[in-house]
Amino acid sequence: MSILANKRLLLGVSGGIAAYKAPELVRRLQDAGADVRVVLTAAAERFVSPLALEVVSQHAVGRALWEPDGASRIVHTDLGKEVDLIVLAPATADLVGKIAGGLADDLLTTTVMACSTPVLVCPSMNTEMLGNPFVRRNLDALAAEARYTLLEPGVGLLACGVTGPGRLPDPPEIIGAAAAVLTPKTLAGVRVVVSAGPTREAVDPVRYLTNHSTGTMGFALARAFAASGADVTLVAGPVGLPTPVGVARRVDVASAADLARAVADAWDALDVLVMTAAVADFRPRVPAAQKIKKTDMAGELAIALERTEDVLATASARPGRAEKVLIGFAAETRDVERYAREKLARKGLDWIVANDVGAPGVGFGAGDNEVQLIGRSGAAVRYDRAPKDVIAASLVAALAESIARKVRRG
Ligand SMILES: Cc1cc2nc3c(=O)[nH]c(=O)nc-3n(C[C@H](O)[C@H](O)[C@H](O)COP(=O)(O)O)c2cc1C
Repeated sequence: MSILANKRLLLGVSGGIAAYKAPELVRRLQDAGADVRVVLTAAAERFVSPLALEVVSQHAVGRALWEPDGASRIVHTDLGKEVDLIVLAPATADLVGKIAGGLADDLLTTTVMACSTPVLVCPSMNTEMLGNPFVRRNLDALAAEARYTLLEPGVGLLACGVTGPGRLPDPPEIIGAAAAVLTPKTLAGVRVVVSAGPTREAVDPVRYLTNHSTGTMGFALARAFAASGADVTLVAGPVGLPTPVGVARRVDVASAADLARAVADAWDALDVLVMTAAVADFRPRVPAAQKIKKTDMAGELAIALERTEDVLATASARPGRAEKVLIGFAAETRDVERYAREKLARKGLDWIVANDVGAPGVGFGAGDNEVQLIGRSGAAVRYDRAPKDVIAASLVAALAESIARKVRRG
């Protein structure tokens, strides 16, 4: 279940062109289980219909400071206190400037000012506006306050025809950031390294051996650990995924040897190692120095392979292992639980996540997953098919207490 389930949200929409996306955002937040109320600025009403938002949200839309919905009720001082989170999307340069400057001249700005509810700010504007030093100063001023979380705009083709930073992130990113704000920070200060994605093993300068891993599950886990307050390093194989919000650093690697080196470098300063990456077990013993030409082959090409380093088994034998938590993933296509239990014991892990990558609709490349978390004691918990973000958040929630107990120092 998403952390947004049964949460009350206030979506504040200001007058940027991206306001036209607000009804869809409301829908997607509702899909995650949230109850969403909407407040529009006067400028926002130029871009999106209050009626559409009223119908979609199933609540009256807050519009004017001077027309409270009941004679005895002062709306602007109540609205913010009645919700768990305020999401400002899109947040205009004007709105950000007013909040940072302590100004409040409409329902949205007074609502934000008159409560201490956490605020997720999703600015969206033309690239030059975003680069304006006073706008940047205002954004940084909000980001410096614990109450405000800034979701930086994406890069893309903007309504003004320019391609650059300023685009409102898509609903899944906003929803992920909202979930992160609301997730209890049970792992604050815990240093987590998550590896994700496939590796590439060179055959020659233009070809390589790899696998079907897309990195989605590992990136979701990195995001979920960061949402729980952990200090996350993501060691990413060659995938085109953006670094999840909240991840402190990212190390891009290509081969199994690169990945092993990155984990070894990080070892002394980590508390938890989560090996989600699908690391190649074999690599060509001697990659060809030049491209292998098919005209050189007599219809058949034999490549001698050698074993790559076993990153988890090596980590398990390192000094300091006893103070750390090692979590592996077992991607299997048959006898999934049996192989996972064998791997847990053979590599001396604390936990293993058994992942049936052969089942239809889940595993490599799919949006969903279905896993089993197995601990050293032998106890297993099954997580039924759900989006990978939801599975990741459930795994982190399940692991948090035992991780915190083991690694929290003095
Ligand atoms: C067509 C058009 C598009 C605009 N798009 C944006 C935008 O994407 N981001 C932004 O910060 N301001 C944008 N503005 C400027 C704001 O509408 C203007 O600053 C307004 O005062 C914002 O009011 P509000 O913050 O109360 O909603 C746009 C203006 C127009 C006319």
